[in-house]
Amino acid sequence: MRRKIVAGNWKMNTTPAEGAELAKAVAAGKKEICDCVNFIVCPPYTHLSEVVRITRGTGVAVGAQDCATEEKGAFTGEVSARMIASLGVEYVILGHSERRQYYGETSETLNRKMRQAYANGLTPIYCVGEKLEEREDGRHFDVVKAQLEEVIYHLTPEQFERLIVAYEPVWAIGTGKTATADQAQEMHAHIRRTLAAKFGATAEQTPILYGGSCKPSNAGELFAKEDVDGGLIGGAALEADSFLQIGKAFLK
Ligand code: PGA
Repeated sequence: MRRKIVAGNWKMNTTPAEGAELAKAVAAGKKEICDCVNFIVCPPYTHLSEVVRITRGTGVAVGAQDCATEEKGAFTGEVSARMIASLGVEYVILGHSERRQYYGETSETLNRKMRQAYANGLTPIYCVGEKLEEREDGRHFDVVKAQLEEVIYHLTPEQFERLIVAYEPVWAIGTGKTATADQAQEMHAHIRRTLAAKFGATAEQTPILYGGSCKPSNAGELFAKEDVDGGLIGGAALEADSFLQIGKAFLK
């Protein structure tokens, strides 16, 4: 049985006080939901410490949205994996399309971030996904395969065992357009095959989350697919109710 996961990516939203309220509401709602669904919230760096404190012992885990490529030193504005892990944070999103697109993150950058994440005990949620023109040109499977080969293929088998992957078609992020459940399943199966080609049967256990306008109204259909093990949720994670509803979609 693979883990079922809903992870909320708050992006650059909420003040620390608003984030604390949101985390409290998620933690309170999570109590009513079976432990079979793992909840993760990923607030901005400035909120991490307080959100870890609020969610401790509630079954809601905390992730960061990124980490630095380097361990420490003169890198103004950066936040290291070690700093993040020392707060009690367990996860880190890496390779989000917004980081690739707006901050020029390449596979090379991401290999270094991966190394830092693992060296400090963080579990990466590694994002892959094609742009609209890549899908229209029929290159979506190749693009995603390359994103996996260039970064994930460098992991050791022990590191790979802990990995979470998120498939986020860029054309579906924040646009209200969702991949159909069949499009998601087709790509998730492709991702699992690509991972299995390198890591064998362990890939059967890798949670592969869907992201891109996932909301309470479509989560049930997406999560019912064989290779869709949960969601990485942006907009709909900014309200406790809709985020919790998405988690409950597993239970229907
Ligand atoms: P969205 O974002 O749910 O707002 O489309 C998903 C993500 O980018 O993680």
